[in-house]
Amino acid sequence: MNNGMKTKNQIGPILVTGAAGQLGGVGRTVTGLLLDRGLPVRAMVRRDDDRATALRAAGAEVVVGVLLEPADVHRVVSGCRRVYFGMSVSAGYLEATVTMAAVAREVGVDALINMSQMTVSQMSIQNTTTSPQQRQHWLSEQALAWSGLPVVTMRPTVFLEGFFLPLTGPSVRDRSRIELPFGRGKTNPVATADVARVIAAVLADPAPHFGQVYELTGPQSQDMDGVAREYSDALKHEVTYAEIPAEDWERGLKKAGLPEHLTRHLLTMAELNRAGRYDRLADGVERLTGRSAMSVRDFVSLHANEFGGRRSERSPD
Ligand SMILES: NC(=O)c1ccc[n+]([C@@H]2O[C@H](COP(=O)([O-])OP(=O)(O)OC[C@H]3O[C@@H](n4cnc5c(N)ncnc54)[C@H](OP(=O)(O)O)[C@@H]3O)[C@@H](O)[C@H]2O)c1
Repeated sequence: MNNGMKTKNQIGPILVTGAAGQLGGVGRTVTGLLLDRGLPVRAMVRRDDDRATALRAAGAEVVVGVLLEPADVHRVVSGCRRVYFGMSVSAGYLEATVTMAAVAREVGVDALINMSQMTVSQMSIQNTTTSPQQRQHWLSEQALAWSGLPVVTMRPTVFLEGFFLPLTGPSVRDRSRIELPFGRGKTNPVATADVARVIAAVLADPAPHFGQVYELTGPQSQDMDGVAREYSDALKHEVTYAEIPAEDWERGLKKAGLPEHLTRHLLTMAELNRAGRYDRLADGVERLTGRSAMSVRDFVSLHANEFGGRRSERSPD
C-alpha cells in the first residue's frame, strides 16, 4: 500500500518538534493545520507551560523533551512514522539533527520533513557563509542524506513572522521606518503560515515528495523601498526604508540580549542581503498548496496592530 494511503491508525501520531514556538512559529502552525485535517499529532515542547496547555486544548498529544537528549528524542519519536523536525536557531542545531536521524533510523521512521534554509541552495565546500546556523543546515542536510532516511527538505527564505515582524515592528510602530542594514539588495520574504501549509500538505501524504528539496519564497522580489511601499499600502500611511550601519544594528541586537549564535546569523543575513543573495523567487508554496504565497502587503495588513495600526488616510508623518 502507498505510504500516503495508510490509515490514521497505521501511521500513528505525526511528531512535530519545536511545537510550542512563538506565534507564527512553524511547528506550532503545522500542529494546528494537521489537527484541522483530522490527523493525530504528537507535539514536542521543551517546557510544560501555557503554550503546552494550549496545544493540548487544541487536541494534540503533548510530550516534553530536549532535542539534544538522545533518550528524550527516542521517547518522543517511538510510535511515530512521520516527523517534522525543526527548532529555534541555536548553537546545537547540527547535534540535534544528527540525534534525530540516529533515532529515526532506529525507530523506523517512514518520513522525515527537515526544516532548512534557502541559502543552502547556494552553498558548497568552496562557497560557505559566515553564519553558524547556515553552516549547520548545510551539514545537517548532508548528514540526513547519508542517513538513508526518506527525507523531504524545506528551504524557505527569510520569514515574515520570524524576522520582519519582530525586527521591523517596533521602528515601524514608533517612527514609521523600516530600519535595517539591507542596502539595495532585493528580498522576497515568505510567511511561515505558507511554509507550514506546505509542510502539513507533505506530512499528510509524504511518499510523492521523498528526496525533494522545496525552495519557498513570497510572490515578489524587491528592494527595501518596494517592501516599505507594501507596508505603506497596508497601514495606510507612509512607511520608509532607512538604511542603518551594520555596526549599529549589531549593537541593538546585542543590547536586546540575543545569543551570539543568533546575532552572527542575523548579521550574515544582512550582509548577504546587501550582496543581492536574497533576490530569490521560487514557486514551492503555490506548487504544493495550490495557493499563491502571501505578499508583504497582505501580511502587514493581517498584523496591522503589531505594526502600529492602520490610519484612516494616508498622510506623511
Ligand atoms: N526565521 C527565519 O527567517 C527563517 C528563515 C528560513 C528558515 N528558518 C529556519 O526555521 C527554523 C526555526 O523555525 P521556527 O521559527 O518555527 O522556530 P522557533 O519558533 O524559533 O522555535 C521552535 C521551538 O524550538 C524549541 N527548541 C529550541 N531548542 C530546543 C531543544 N534543544 N529541544 C527542544 N526544543 C527546542 C523552542 O522551545 P522554547 O520556545 O521552549 O524555547 C521553540 O518553541 C530554523 O531551522 C531556522 O533556521 C528560519
